[in-house]
Amino acid sequence: MDFNLDVSYAQHLDQQDELKAFRDRFVIDDPDLIYLDGNSLGRLPKVTRDRLKHAIDHEWGQQLIRGWNQGWMELNERVGDKVAQLIGAQAGEVAIADSTSVNLFKLAYAALQVNPDRNKIVTDDLNFPSDHYILQGLSKLLDRPIEIHVAKSTDGIHGPVDELESLIDENTALVTLSHTVFKTSYTYDMAAITAMADRVGALALWDISHSVGSAQVELNKSNAPLAVGCTYKHLNSGPGAPAFLYVRKDLQSKLVNPISGWMGHRDVFKFDLHYDAETNIRQFMTGTPFVLSITAIEPAVDMFIEAGMDRIRQKSMKQSEYFITLWREWLEPFGFRLNAPLDVNWRGSHLSLGHVDGLRIDQALIHDMKVIPDFRPPDNIRFGFTPLYTTFEEVYEGAKRLREVMMKKLFENYNEVPLVT
Ligand SMILES: Cc1ncc(COP(=O)(O)O)c(C=O)c1O
Repeated sequence: MDFNLDVSYAQHLDQQDELKAFRDRFVIDDPDLIYLDGNSLGRLPKVTRDRLKHAIDHEWGQQLIRGWNQGWMELNERVGDKVAQLIGAQAGEVAIADSTSVNLFKLAYAALQVNPDRNKIVTDDLNFPSDHYILQGLSKLLDRPIEIHVAKSTDGIHGPVDELESLIDENTALVTLSHTVFKTSYTYDMAAITAMADRVGALALWDISHSVGSAQVELNKSNAPLAVGCTYKHLNSGPGAPAFLYVRKDLQSKLVNPISGWMGHRDVFKFDLHYDAETNIRQFMTGTPFVLSITAIEPAVDMFIEAGMDRIRQKSMKQSEYFITLWREWLEPFGFRLNAPLDVNWRGSHLSLGHVDGLRIDQALIHDMKVIPDFRPPDNIRFGFTPLYTTFEEVYEGAKRLREVMMKKLFENYNEVPLVT
């Protein structure tokens, strides 16, 4: 069936979709609500509700403290091993721990410590603000002056690869970037940038928060030494779900976790007053595992393993390409700019459309049209496509309702009041 602007085309794509059965496995109470923000907070899998109920009623309610001997102590690594399967890492290289920001702090600090004669961090101006804040904070904690060099994107969309190359030199200890950029969806060539760092003996630290569960990430094949990421976005693990960190096997005994807590000790229950670090991925853990929150990660990740990242990526690419076709037909004439790479190979599973009235349009979409995207300043309305539950018909409807907001000028009813979405 050739592309046409009728809903029947979207329905045809849905019929052909190999992943379509997964949608029924999520809580979707209002089928008329077009949820295009699963890249920020994923939907609730039905199985997670059941799994959490079991964890509360049985594991906590009945097992009580005995739960620590019946699986809780191994949760961080067991679930970490499953996340590893989604990001091209081996078992024993990933642990669930803390938040992405805290994990970034730990690994960035460790990378600076292992190269004590170097004083340069290289990043870009597309990186997530919290990553910048962490770098700024930790640079003041070291006993030597640290310079943070920020490469500037020339168009505000694509990564500044050439400038990064010229900034990464023999004085660089750490290169840290978002693999997929939160605002524009630009995705770096992880292997190429990691190789730039490698050539001069620096360590690359990847924030894969917007890639995990939506794009092909090949940490081992890219020779990536370090990575961190979120589980509450594409991985559907719930609001505030803990993050994960990845440390390549050969580095696990060489790097040192700066937040050395009892969970990173070689013998946790020895209660020795002297810290004796583990030499495997456990040493990057700090405090007590967040048992209930990690419990919510596992069944969601199992679904991704079952669906397969290849198929998820294929559908994600098809959905964003479809949205771009609709943008050209319906939205570009109303002044929307595509603030994302046009080439599908260079972007993740979300797209931003820029518009001078972006914030007001975003509000009209949410309140009048039952479409939930999110907004990122200065003018980006961000649409996330989450292949396990987003249908092609929703992509179609989302674009159509956005056009209606413009045709009826519904956004004129809204003021520039910042939203938290
Ligand atoms: C790319 C990226 N990095 C880091 C963070 C911060 O994560 P956390 O709140 O878990 O520290 C976010 C949050 O949205 C993010 O999108």
